Amino acid sequence: MTDEPQTWHYGLVARWWAEFNTDGPEIDYFKGLIERYGQPALDVACGTGRLLIPFLRAGMDVDGCDISPDMVRLCAEKAASEGLTTNLSVQAMHELALPRTYRTIVVCGGFGLGGSRLQDQEALRRIFQHLLPGGALVLDNYVAYEDEDEWRYWLKAERLKLPEPWPSAGRRKRAANGDEIELQIRLAAFDPLTQGATREIRALLWRDGQVIRREENVLFERRYFRDELAAMLALAGFAHVQVFGDYTDDVASPDSDVLVYIATKA
Ligand SMILES: C[S@@+](CC[C@H](N)C(=O)[O-])C[C@H]1O[C@@H](n2cnc3c(N)ncnc32)[C@H](O)[C@@H]1O
Repeated sequence: MTDEPQTWHYGLVARWWAEFNTDGPEIDYFKGLIERYGQPALDVACGTGRLLIPFLRAGMDVDGCDISPDMVRLCAEKAASEGLTTNLSVQAMHELALPRTYRTIVVCGGFGLGGSRLQDQEALRRIFQHLLPGGALVLDNYVAYEDEDEWRYWLKAERLKLPEPWPSAGRRKRAANGDEIELQIRLAAFDPLTQGATREIRALLWRDGQVIRREENVLFERRYFRDELAAMLALAGFAHVQVFGDYTDDVASPDSDVLVYIATKA
Protein backbone atom coordinates (compact mmCIF):
# COMPACT_ATOMS: atom_id res chain seq x y z
CA MET A 1 0.00 0.00 0.00
CA THR A 2 1.48 3.30 -1.08
CA ASP A 3 0.87 6.76 0.38
CA GLU A 4 0.50 8.08 -3.15
CA PRO A 5 -3.13 9.17 -3.72
CA GLN A 6 -4.91 6.82 -6.11
CA THR A 7 -6.61 8.81 -8.87
CA TRP A 8 -7.42 8.20 -12.51
CA HIS A 9 -7.07 11.62 -14.16
CA TYR A 10 -4.26 10.59 -16.49
CA GLY A 11 -3.85 9.70 -20.15
CA LEU A 12 -7.15 9.29 -21.96
CA VAL A 13 -9.17 10.33 -18.91
CA ALA A 14 -7.24 13.62 -18.81
CA ARG A 15 -7.88 14.06 -22.52
CA TRP A 16 -11.61 13.40 -21.94
CA TRP A 17 -11.66 16.19 -19.35
CA ALA A 18 -9.84 18.60 -21.67
CA GLU A 19 -12.06 17.81 -24.65
CA PHE A 20 -15.48 17.47 -23.09
CA ASN A 21 -15.66 18.87 -19.55
CA THR A 22 -15.63 22.56 -20.25
CA ASP A 23 -18.76 24.02 -18.69
CA GLY A 24 -21.14 23.67 -15.75
CA PRO A 25 -22.86 25.79 -13.10
CA GLU A 26 -19.74 25.65 -10.89
CA ILE A 27 -17.88 28.14 -13.09
CA ASP A 28 -20.06 31.20 -12.47
CA TYR A 29 -20.78 30.16 -8.90
CA PHE A 30 -17.13 29.92 -7.85
CA LYS A 31 -16.27 33.01 -9.93
CA GLY A 32 -18.81 34.96 -7.86
CA LEU A 33 -17.23 33.64 -4.66
CA ILE A 34 -13.75 34.74 -5.79
CA GLU A 35 -15.22 38.18 -6.54
CA ARG A 36 -16.69 38.21 -3.03
CA TYR A 37 -13.67 36.94 -1.08
CA GLY A 38 -10.93 38.39 -3.25
CA GLN A 39 -7.79 37.75 -5.25
CA PRO A 40 -5.27 36.38 -5.68
CA ALA A 41 -7.06 33.04 -5.76
CA LEU A 42 -5.90 29.47 -6.07
CA ASP A 43 -7.80 26.67 -7.82
CA VAL A 44 -6.73 23.46 -6.04
CA ALA A 45 -7.31 20.32 -8.16
CA CYS A 46 -7.78 22.65 -11.14
CA GLY A 47 -7.76 19.76 -13.60
CA THR A 48 -7.72 20.85 -17.23
CA GLY A 49 -8.97 24.31 -16.31
CA ARG A 50 -12.73 23.99 -16.61
CA LEU A 51 -13.02 26.76 -14.01
CA LEU A 52 -9.52 28.22 -14.13
CA ILE A 53 -9.52 29.11 -17.83
CA PRO A 54 -12.81 31.08 -17.65
CA PHE A 55 -11.41 32.83 -14.55
CA LEU A 56 -8.26 33.78 -16.49
CA ARG A 57 -10.32 34.90 -19.48
CA ALA A 58 -12.15 37.24 -17.11
CA GLY A 59 -8.79 38.79 -16.15
CA MET A 60 -8.72 37.26 -12.67
CA ASP A 61 -5.48 36.56 -10.80
CA VAL A 62 -5.90 32.83 -10.20
CA ASP A 63 -3.19 30.16 -9.88
CA GLY A 64 -3.83 26.44 -10.25
CA CYS A 65 -2.46 23.18 -8.94
CA ASP A 66 -3.34 19.54 -9.38
CA ILE A 67 -1.88 16.14 -8.60
CA SER A 68 -1.98 15.01 -12.25
CA PRO A 69 0.80 16.22 -14.56
CA ASP A 70 -1.39 15.24 -17.53
CA MET A 71 -4.29 17.43 -16.38
CA VAL A 72 -1.92 20.34 -15.65
CA ARG A 73 -0.18 20.02 -19.04
CA LEU A 74 -3.51 20.03 -20.91
CA CYS A 75 -4.67 23.02 -18.84
CA ALA A 76 -1.47 24.90 -19.69
CA GLU A 77 -1.77 24.06 -23.40
CA LYS A 78 -5.39 25.21 -23.55
CA ALA A 79 -4.61 28.45 -21.76
CA ALA A 80 -1.57 29.10 -23.99
CA SER A 81 -3.67 28.51 -27.11
CA GLU A 82 -5.82 31.46 -25.97
CA GLY A 83 -2.82 33.61 -25.07
CA LEU A 84 -3.56 33.33 -21.33
CA THR A 85 -0.74 33.31 -18.80
CA THR A 86 -0.89 30.57 -16.16
CA ASN A 87 0.85 29.86 -12.90
CA LEU A 88 0.33 26.11 -12.48
CA SER A 89 1.93 23.52 -10.21
CA VAL A 90 1.79 19.76 -9.99
CA GLN A 91 1.10 19.01 -6.32
CA ALA A 92 -1.10 16.74 -4.25
CA MET A 93 -3.26 18.94 -2.06
CA HIS A 94 -1.97 17.34 1.14
CA GLU A 95 1.54 18.41 0.04
CA LEU A 96 0.49 21.91 -1.00
CA ALA A 97 3.53 24.18 -0.70
CA LEU A 98 3.36 27.29 -2.87
CA PRO A 99 5.28 30.55 -2.61
CA ARG A 100 2.11 32.68 -2.58
CA THR A 101 -0.79 33.21 -0.19
CA TYR A 102 -4.34 33.79 -1.35
CA ARG A 103 -7.58 35.55 -0.47
CA THR A 104 -9.68 32.73 -1.94
CA ILE A 105 -8.93 29.06 -2.46
CA VAL A 106 -11.35 27.01 -4.56
CA VAL A 107 -11.60 23.22 -4.52
CA CYS A 108 -14.18 22.02 -7.05
CA GLY A 109 -14.71 18.29 -7.47
CA GLY A 110 -11.36 17.45 -5.93
CA PHE A 111 -11.74 17.02 -2.19
CA GLY A 112 -11.76 13.44 -0.87
CA LEU A 113 -10.17 12.03 -4.02
CA GLY A 114 -7.25 9.71 -3.93
CA GLY A 115 -5.92 9.83 -0.44
CA SER A 116 -6.41 8.80 3.16
CA ARG A 117 -8.47 10.59 5.77
CA LEU A 118 -5.26 11.92 7.32
CA GLN A 119 -4.17 13.27 3.94
CA ASP A 120 -7.54 14.99 3.52
CA GLN A 121 -7.16 16.58 6.96
CA GLU A 122 -3.61 17.65 6.08
CA ALA A 123 -4.87 19.14 2.80
CA LEU A 124 -7.27 21.36 4.75
CA ARG A 125 -4.45 22.41 7.10
CA ARG A 126 -2.18 23.29 4.15
CA ILE A 127 -4.97 25.20 2.43
CA PHE A 128 -5.52 27.15 5.66
CA GLN A 129 -1.80 28.00 5.73
CA HIS A 130 -2.01 29.30 2.15
CA LEU A 131 -4.83 31.73 2.97
CA LEU A 132 -4.36 35.35 3.97
CA PRO A 133 -6.15 36.47 7.15
CA GLY A 134 -9.81 37.05 6.26
CA GLY A 135 -9.47 34.73 3.26
CA ALA A 136 -11.87 31.94 2.40
CA LEU A 137 -11.78 28.34 1.29
CA VAL A 138 -14.71 27.44 -0.96
CA LEU A 139 -15.02 23.71 -1.45
CA ASP A 140 -17.74 21.54 -2.93
CA ASN A 141 -18.50 17.97 -1.95
CA TYR A 142 -21.21 15.57 -3.11
CA VAL A 143 -23.22 13.98 -0.32
CA ALA A 144 -22.93 10.22 0.04
CA TYR A 145 -26.70 9.67 -0.28
CA GLU A 146 -27.15 11.68 -3.50
CA ASP A 147 -27.04 8.59 -5.72
CA GLU A 148 -29.78 6.09 -4.88
CA ASP A 149 -28.05 3.31 -6.79
CA GLU A 150 -24.79 3.74 -4.94
CA TRP A 151 -26.17 4.49 -1.49
CA ARG A 152 -27.42 0.89 -1.24
CA TYR A 153 -23.81 -0.34 -0.99
CA TRP A 154 -23.66 0.94 2.57
CA LEU A 155 -25.75 -2.20 3.33
CA LYS A 156 -23.86 -5.45 3.79
CA ALA A 157 -26.09 -7.59 1.57
CA GLU A 158 -25.68 -5.17 -1.33
CA ARG A 159 -21.96 -4.67 -0.75
CA LEU A 160 -21.34 -8.37 -1.11
CA LYS A 161 -22.45 -8.01 -4.76
CA LEU A 162 -19.46 -5.77 -5.53
CA PRO A 163 -17.61 -5.35 -7.82
CA GLU A 164 -20.32 -4.18 -10.17
CA PRO A 165 -20.16 -5.80 -13.61
CA TRP A 166 -18.54 -3.67 -16.29
CA PRO A 167 -21.17 -1.92 -18.42
CA SER A 168 -21.47 -3.44 -21.90
CA ALA A 169 -20.75 -0.02 -23.37
CA GLY A 170 -19.63 3.20 -21.77
CA ARG A 171 -19.98 6.89 -22.61
CA ARG A 172 -18.35 7.53 -25.98
CA LYS A 173 -17.65 10.94 -27.47
CA ARG A 174 -15.87 12.27 -30.54
CA ALA A 175 -12.88 14.51 -29.95
CA ALA A 176 -11.93 17.51 -32.06
CA ASN A 177 -9.52 15.49 -34.26
CA GLY A 178 -12.11 12.78 -35.02
CA ASP A 179 -10.87 10.25 -32.44
CA GLU A 180 -13.48 8.83 -30.12
CA ILE A 181 -12.94 8.21 -26.42
CA GLU A 182 -15.08 5.76 -24.48
CA LEU A 183 -15.16 5.59 -20.69
CA GLN A 184 -16.54 2.60 -18.80
CA ILE A 185 -16.77 2.96 -15.04
CA ARG A 186 -17.75 0.60 -12.27
CA LEU A 187 -17.80 0.61 -8.47
CA ALA A 188 -15.34 -2.06 -7.38
CA ALA A 189 -15.59 -1.84 -3.60
CA PHE A 190 -17.05 0.23 -0.81
CA ASP A 191 -16.02 0.36 2.84
CA PRO A 192 -18.60 2.01 5.11
CA LEU A 193 -16.13 2.13 8.01
CA THR A 194 -13.69 4.36 6.13
CA GLN A 195 -16.45 5.76 3.85
CA GLY A 196 -14.22 4.93 0.90
CA ALA A 197 -15.37 3.96 -2.59
CA THR A 198 -13.00 2.29 -5.03
CA ARG A 199 -13.94 2.92 -8.66
CA GLU A 200 -12.38 1.40 -11.74
CA ILE A 201 -12.26 2.94 -15.17
CA ARG A 202 -11.56 1.59 -18.64
CA ALA A 203 -10.72 4.23 -21.20
CA LEU A 204 -10.76 3.20 -24.85
CA LEU A 205 -9.42 5.23 -27.75
CA TRP A 206 -11.31 4.52 -30.98
CA ARG A 207 -10.01 5.47 -34.41
CA ASP A 208 -11.70 4.46 -37.68
CA GLY A 209 -13.94 2.03 -35.79
CA GLN A 210 -11.07 0.21 -34.05
CA VAL A 211 -9.91 0.39 -30.45
CA ILE A 212 -6.29 1.51 -30.75
CA ARG A 213 -5.54 2.08 -27.07
CA ARG A 214 -6.97 0.81 -23.81
CA GLU A 215 -6.13 2.15 -20.35
CA GLU A 216 -7.34 0.97 -16.95
CA ASN A 217 -7.09 2.89 -13.73
CA VAL A 218 -8.52 3.20 -10.23
CA LEU A 219 -9.94 6.14 -8.31
CA PHE A 220 -10.36 6.13 -4.58
CA GLU A 221 -13.01 8.49 -3.24
CA ARG A 222 -13.86 9.17 0.39
CA ARG A 223 -17.37 10.37 1.25
CA TYR A 224 -17.89 12.98 3.98
CA PHE A 225 -20.97 14.07 5.87
CA ARG A 226 -21.71 17.72 6.55
CA ASP A 227 -20.90 17.90 10.25
CA GLU A 228 -17.86 15.69 9.81
CA LEU A 229 -16.31 17.92 7.16
CA ALA A 230 -17.27 21.05 9.12
CA ALA A 231 -15.42 19.59 12.13
CA MET A 232 -12.38 18.83 9.97
CA LEU A 233 -12.38 22.45 8.77
CA ALA A 234 -12.53 23.66 12.36
CA LEU A 235 -9.64 21.36 13.27
CA ALA A 236 -7.64 22.80 10.36
CA GLY A 237 -8.04 26.24 11.96
CA PHE A 238 -11.01 27.76 10.17
CA ALA A 239 -12.93 30.14 12.40
CA HIS A 240 -16.26 30.11 10.65
CA VAL A 241 -17.85 27.54 8.35
CA GLN A 242 -21.05 27.99 6.36
CA VAL A 243 -22.60 25.26 4.19
CA PHE A 244 -24.74 25.97 1.14
CA GLY A 245 -26.61 23.66 -1.20
CA ASP A 246 -26.33 22.94 -4.92
CA TYR A 247 -24.34 26.03 -5.98
CA THR A 248 -26.94 28.46 -4.63
CA ASP A 249 -27.02 31.00 -1.83
CA ASP A 250 -29.42 28.73 0.08
CA VAL A 251 -28.24 27.08 3.25
CA ALA A 252 -27.76 23.34 2.69
CA SER A 253 -30.87 21.24 3.23
CA PRO A 254 -31.44 17.48 3.51
CA ASP A 255 -32.32 17.59 -0.20
CA SER A 256 -29.06 19.18 -1.35
CA ASP A 257 -26.98 16.89 -3.57
CA VAL A 258 -23.79 18.88 -3.41
CA LEU A 259 -22.70 20.91 -0.42
CA VAL A 260 -20.54 23.98 -0.73
CA TYR A 261 -18.46 24.78 2.35
CA ILE A 262 -17.29 28.35 2.78
CA ALA A 263 -14.70 28.42 5.52
CA THR A 264 -13.03 31.66 6.52
CA LYS A 265 -9.74 32.34 8.23
CA ALA A 266 -10.01 34.81 11.11
C1 LIG B 1 -13.26 15.79 -10.93
S1 LIG B 1 -11.75 16.54 -11.45
C2 LIG B 1 -12.15 18.26 -11.20
C3 LIG B 1 -11.24 19.20 -11.95
C4 LIG B 1 -11.62 20.67 -11.87
N1 LIG B 1 -11.57 21.17 -10.51
C5 LIG B 1 -12.99 20.88 -12.45
O1 LIG B 1 -13.93 21.11 -11.67
O2 LIG B 1 -13.12 20.80 -13.66
C6 LIG B 1 -10.75 16.16 -10.06
C7 LIG B 1 -9.34 16.68 -10.14
O3 LIG B 1 -8.74 16.49 -8.88
C8 LIG B 1 -7.39 16.11 -9.06
N2 LIG B 1 -7.00 15.44 -7.83
C9 LIG B 1 -7.44 14.25 -7.38
N3 LIG B 1 -6.88 13.96 -6.20
C10 LIG B 1 -6.08 15.01 -5.90
C11 LIG B 1 -5.22 15.28 -4.79
N4 LIG B 1 -5.14 14.43 -3.78
N5 LIG B 1 -4.53 16.44 -4.80
C12 LIG B 1 -4.65 17.30 -5.84
N6 LIG B 1 -5.43 17.09 -6.91
C13 LIG B 1 -6.14 15.96 -6.93
C14 LIG B 1 -7.43 15.24 -10.29
O4 LIG B 1 -6.17 15.09 -10.89
C15 LIG B 1 -8.44 15.98 -11.15
O5 LIG B 1 -7.81 16.90 -11.98
